[in-house]
Amino acid sequence: MALRRACLMMLIVMLGLLAAGCYPDPSPPNLTPIPTLAPPVILTPVGAAAVIPTAAPRQPGQGNAQDGQALFAANCAACHGAEAQGGVGPALKNNQFIKTAGNDKIFQTIADGRTGTAMPAWSQAKGGKLTDAQIDNLVAFLHTLQQ
Ligand code: HEC
Repeated sequence: MALRRACLMMLIVMLGLLAAGCYPDPSPPNLTPIPTLAPPVILTPVGAAAVIPTAAPRQPGQGNAQDGQALFAANCAACHGAEAQGGVGPALKNNQFIKTAGNDKIFQTIADGRTGTAMPAWSQAKGGKLTDAQIDNLVAFLHTLQQ
């Protein structure tokens, strides 16, 4: 009986020692160290060449005047005249606005139209039927009509 109790005591003491021994460092030895996180990968912006264009890119001020002429005949001549001499809409040849406003403003006028007048909006963004590139072509064509 006494032996049994002594064994029990020994066991408790040993467990105690074990626990105490463990206390300063609870992790068992020979554990593989927790890997430190790799430094975050900093994404560098991809060059423009990698961007896949979804539509013909705009080239403001670089429109194709020949394409613009065809677009004018089909869409604008009815109001501005076959020779852009004017009609329902003002003459667009030798036109002070075209000469002085700059490509952005001319583009905007065609794209957005003139609210409250017969001049409609032509850009697809505004419910028209022309792409931005086509409007650039019209701008280029209108420039060829100025002297
Ligand atoms: C339904 C008739 C109509 C059609 C079609 C039309 N326009 Fe016009 N446009 C006008 C009228 C009217 C004005 C004058 C608006 C105003 O009083 O500001 C005008 C104004 C303009 C102006 C500004 C001129 C200025 O001196 O301020 C430009 C540029 C222009 N139109 C380009 C075009 C182009 C390019 C097309 C074809 C894609 C076109 N228009 C089609 C009626 C039309």
